[in-house]
Amino acid sequence: MAPRITVIGTGYLGATHAAAMAELGFEVLGLDVVPEKIEMLGRGKVPMYEPGLEELLRRHVAGIEGSTGRLRFTTSWEEVGEFGDVHFVCVNTPQKHGEYACDMTYVDAAFSSLAAVLRRPALVVGKSTVPVGSAARLAGLLRELSPAGDEVELAWNPEFLREGFAVRDTLHPDRIVVGVSGEHGEKLLREVYATPVGEGTPFVVTDYPTAELVKTAANSFLATKISFINAMAEVCEAADGDVVKLAEAIGHDERIGRKFLRAGIGFGGGCLPKDIRAFMARAGELGVDQALTFLREVDSINMRRRGHMVELARECLGGSFLGQRVAVLGATFKPDSDDVRDSPALNVAGQIHLQGGQVTVYDPKGMANARGLFPTLGYAPTALEACRGAQVVLHLTEWAEFRELDPAALGEVVAARRILDGRNALDAAAWRDAGWAFRAMGRPQA
Ligand code: UGA
Repeated sequence: MAPRITVIGTGYLGATHAAAMAELGFEVLGLDVVPEKIEMLGRGKVPMYEPGLEELLRRHVAGIEGSTGRLRFTTSWEEVGEFGDVHFVCVNTPQKHGEYACDMTYVDAAFSSLAAVLRRPALVVGKSTVPVGSAARLAGLLRELSPAGDEVELAWNPEFLREGFAVRDTLHPDRIVVGVSGEHGEKLLREVYATPVGEGTPFVVTDYPTAELVKTAANSFLATKISFINAMAEVCEAADGDVVKLAEAIGHDERIGRKFLRAGIGFGGGCLPKDIRAFMARAGELGVDQALTFLREVDSINMRRRGHMVELARECLGGSFLGQRVAVLGATFKPDSDDVRDSPALNVAGQIHLQGGQVTVYDPKGMANARGLFPTLGYAPTALEACRGAQVVLHLTEWAEFRELDPAALGEVVAARRILDGRNALDAAAWRDAGWAFRAMGRPQA
């Protein structure tokens, strides 16, 4: 019989994983400690914006007309223990307050609660991003606290999904990495992932520490790539070069590649910034902090971008924000998401507001979350309304909607035709042709 699956923690990762497992044909039970989330998911509603996820969920949630009924949700640990053969732990690991290290409170609590209800053989699979060494410790905890003892096995299976592409990345991952301690775990996971593996997805088997490190290494590499091109943007700006052309030209070299070389106001979100910091903190504990000193630089190049955007805007307004109206297009940390965690766009908006600017923000999906985090900023229901009367427009998250704006129409409502492109995504020539002073990061001023 096919293994029955549980998913613990129903955020981006868990909700998507649970729906994807049901799509692959498994019976799935999802658990979260927040009853409101479980109630919503049980009705086939997704608590965040993620393209395609709600459709996938509704195809499988029990009780929804026409669904397969393979997916259910609960808040009961007992039910999870009784139901599952394979338990995926997908809770988050945020940055600790006032420290670089990551906060393992949720992971530790989930493992303790789960262990207590494991009364028969089971495979527990960690998916959360954790400091290297955690899996070995958690395997011990499971053995110690589970009534089933040695019949409970642990595997570590990091997740590489991107917000905005969560469904596609989960159903068709570019690799599956599993850190295991024995053959049984590998065999079960090969069964769980038989469909993507059958489609050609590489299945990489490692030990625990390597599996944990693969995840942090991958995110560190991505962060480094972005900061590299942003460092080039700084030099381009000083030398009157064009970082967009530079990225295109170096990207033709396959060893470098074109992806993740978009210069602008830098990376944010719930993953890259906190993951590189947690990695540095862990390296320090392991006595190899020098190996990751470069990540400090990656982090500071990245944070400098936000400050630089504020500087460009101030310069554009003749040296001060006082009494000036500033339109901000974009609040989320990237397009096709409603996530505003550590969003560079909101950080820039907030800094300008604190320096006396009258900031009005518009974002296609992130308004509610942005309001929650920065209630004192102004918000408008459309891009056009946000720009009404503005002395300068800042393009800070590259939603498709903003690329489609008509420069002439927008020119009618602003107080001055000035735009700064913080994502190098707008068509400079089209804006300049419509009479706008257009400036982008790391590109020559016309
Ligand atoms: C990132 C990784 O890409 C995923 O592989 C990983 O699974 C995930 O973290 C995670 O650890 O859970 P995500 O946070 O969704 O995914 O966002 P990315 O697409 O990596 O973008 C991160 C930030 O970098 C965004 O603010 C984006 O605007 C910025 N970025 C990206 C650039 O500034 N330039 C680029 O060229 C690419």
